[in-house]
Amino acid sequence: MKTYFLLSLLILISMPISAAKMGMPSDIPKSYEAECASCHMAYPPGLLGQKNWQNIMSSLDKHFGTDASLDEKTQAELTIWLVKNAATKAKYASLAPDNRITKSAWFIRKHDEVRADVWKRTGVKSPANCSACHADAVKGIFNEDNVRIPSK
Ligand code: HEC
Ligand code: HEC
Repeated sequence: MKTYFLLSLLILISMPISAAKMGMPSDIPKSYEAECASCHMAYPPGLLGQKNWQNIMSSLDKHFGTDASLDEKTQAELTIWLVKNAATKAKYASLAPDNRITKSAWFIRKHDEVRADVWKRTGVKSPANCSACHADAVKGIFNEDNVRIPSK
């Protein structure tokens, strides 16, 4: 009994993060690229839970210090798509502070080895700039083989 428990625990711990729904879904609407990837990369919906996406999409006029408002039709279309493809596993789906991927518990834990000054380098600018370090971030690929941290 105990061995079984320990074994399943081991399997759980060793499961790669790619098991999470992080890639860009193939049914990505054209409007997502057009409207949500001009100021930053198009974040794969699986990086946040449903509630966070709903919050973001219902406050686009006050979007992290900028106005990212959309016409009603596009807003509705994107909200439905984001919510449908939002994270489902508790770890990724739990409510992130300020609706930020970069403030979620999993993000902070995965990046605990990145020093504070690295986030501020010119080549990085912000933790939200995933593709500065993750070459294939847009595809939702974040494994360590694809990490290149800008030296400046
Ligand atoms: C006019 C520019 C602009 C547009 C358009 C825009 N955003 Fe943003 N977004 C920002 C800025 C600025 C930030 C904060 C970036 C930072 O902290 O480095 C941000 C941050 C975010 C974050 C949080 C990133 C983090 O820190 O984890 C999410 C999620 C996000 N945007 C989603 C969207 C979605 C969805 C759309 C389309 C509906 C969109 N954005 C359109 C400017 C924009
Ligand atoms: C300053 C560079 C940098 C930025 C910017 C950055 N990351 Fe990372 N990320 C790293 C490093 C370094 C690791 C740890 C790699 C390792 O050893 O597994 C990591 C790990 C990860 C992992 C875990 C990978 C795994 O295989 O365990 C995920 C998921 C991830 N990052 C997502 C993101 C997302 C999403 C963003 C943007 C919102 C982002 N990262 C922004 C540097 C960065």
